[in-house]
Amino acid sequence: MSITNTTSVIEAIRTRRTIKSFKPDPISETDLNAWLEAASYAPNHRFNEPWEVLVIGPETRAKLNHKTNFGNAPILLAVLSKPGATPFERDENIMAVSCFIQNFLLAAHEAGAGAYWASLGSQPQNRAILNVQEGFDVVGVFGIGYPAEEPAARPRAPIASKMTHLS
Ligand SMILES: Cc1cc2nc3c(=O)[nH]c(=O)nc-3n(C[C@H](O)[C@H](O)[C@H](O)COP(=O)(O)O)c2cc1C
Repeated sequence: MSITNTTSVIEAIRTRRTIKSFKPDPISETDLNAWLEAASYAPNHRFNEPWEVLVIGPETRAKLNHKTNFGNAPILLAVLSKPGATPFERDENIMAVSCFIQNFLLAAHEAGAGAYWASLGSQPQNRAILNVQEGFDVVGVFGIGYPAEEPAARPRAPIASKMTHLS
């Protein structure tokens, strides 16, 4: 479902979908940077801003050899999470980067764009292709573009089934 100028945050959250087929229309660098900049207002502990973004060019993309070429998305990014001094800090960094990513996905969605989140970047051979330094986590590889499909939302479990009230 597409969204309008008067979209609320809740409507944007509800209507964002993973997109697996893209139009060839380019995304402007200005738009991409604006979505990433907005994303960086994500919560992050100790204000360490643990996200790093790789903008993946055609040679690197070809080496990733994805089965659908990321739905032919015009842009491909990898989002990394910085190493932590402890396993706990590493987990916190990944949590903050996940917030960054969700912000990015919603900002792109608000502008009518969409994204394909692929987890293949964490595989050792793909880490090597992306030249990821030791200790960094690849939280996702993202094809980004204007959707050529409008997938329906898969229904979610009733939220009450995910809630426990403690005394
Ligand atoms: C951590 C993470 C990894 C994901 N990796 C993949 C992936 O490798 N391939 C894929 O098709 N979708 C991947 N997805 C997208 C999910 O399949 C998708 O979010 C889910 O089906 C719900 O659909 P929606 O995003 O349209 O609500 C990933 C999502 C997350 C959060």
